[in-house]
Amino acid sequence: MGKSNVTLTRLVETANRLVAGGRGLLAMDESNGTCNKRFAAVGIPQTVEMRRAWRDLLITTPGLGACISGAILYDETIRQADDHGTRFTDLLTQAGILPGIKVDAGAKPMAGHPGEKITEGLDGLRERLQDYAEMGAVFAKWRAVIAMDAGLPTRACIEANAHALARYASLCQENGIVPIVEPEILMDGSHSLEQCRLATADVLHTVFEHLYRQGVLLEGMVLKPNMVLPGLACLQQDAVDVVAEVTVRTLRQVVPAAVPGIAFLSGGQSGELASARLNQMNVLAKTFVQPLPWKIAFSYARAIQMPALAIWHGSESNKPEAQWALHHRARCNLAALHGEYSQSIEREHA
Ligand code: 13P
Repeated sequence: MGKSNVTLTRLVETANRLVAGGRGLLAMDESNGTCNKRFAAVGIPQTVEMRRAWRDLLITTPGLGACISGAILYDETIRQADDHGTRFTDLLTQAGILPGIKVDAGAKPMAGHPGEKITEGLDGLRERLQDYAEMGAVFAKWRAVIAMDAGLPTRACIEANAHALARYASLCQENGIVPIVEPEILMDGSHSLEQCRLATADVLHTVFEHLYRQGVLLEGMVLKPNMVLPGLACLQQDAVDVVAEVTVRTLRQVVPAAVPGIAFLSGGQSGELASARLNQMNVLAKTFVQPLPWKIAFSYARAIQMPALAIWHGSESNKPEAQWALHHRARCNLAALHGEYSQSIEREHA
């Protein structure tokens, strides 16, 4: 099936609404397993109703639409509604937030490659995308996971994941859905910033090669990469300005100008660091003689949600305070998109 001109125009418009309008994305697409793990860590019961209540809290946060352009949902969530029966997708649309959907089936151990993973979910994807489009999703997400260790990542892992990302992206566009292409190099390990830089460049080169081979319209997609960071166990933890400079330089060398925007994942960084590093990249971008061809935005899950989750604790009476905390992190990241994040914004009402 080809893509009509109408579809191409819609893809470009949606991709630009996600990243070029000065707002960022909220990833709230944790699988039931991941969501339950986060609940268990703070003592929240792991039930369907609690997961629904948490997603209700996120979506109904007052003023969220001023900071957030799109929200990535999970299969269970896209079918759910608030306490009054209004569907979550309708609530998002009313708030000016585009509904998106995670469509990968998770990263599984890769055969013959100890310590590495391959993301599954291509079988039946066309039909699932058609169903999700009917439910209101206008964009999708697929996450590939790349581990760093001695001898890793292997060429086989990088190629297999890049190929899957490209086939997913092509299927999305065939169905009028903007693909968020997420190759994530994990922060676990003792690798240096330089090792992460080399791996990030290699992975992104390979991903864009496969996107090209599959005929993916780069103007109608969003890249969701890791920042270039030293591993969590690396003794040298580089300063915010170094991370920002190396990340932007690396991406400028490998991400084609046709891509409208790069929306970073947070990957386990604290909320404050994720805001500070994002901010510094946008500060830096203003100083370039040759402007960056794409927007630098965010698509954070943990860096936006975690403080609010700890406050909520599963209790309705904590909802307003938790929503304030969520909005605060979204606002800090909104400021960071404009290079205007500061400690005074961070400490507001804190
Ligand atoms: P984090 O921001 O918590 O890394 O999550 C982003 C995401 O969508 C992972 O797939």
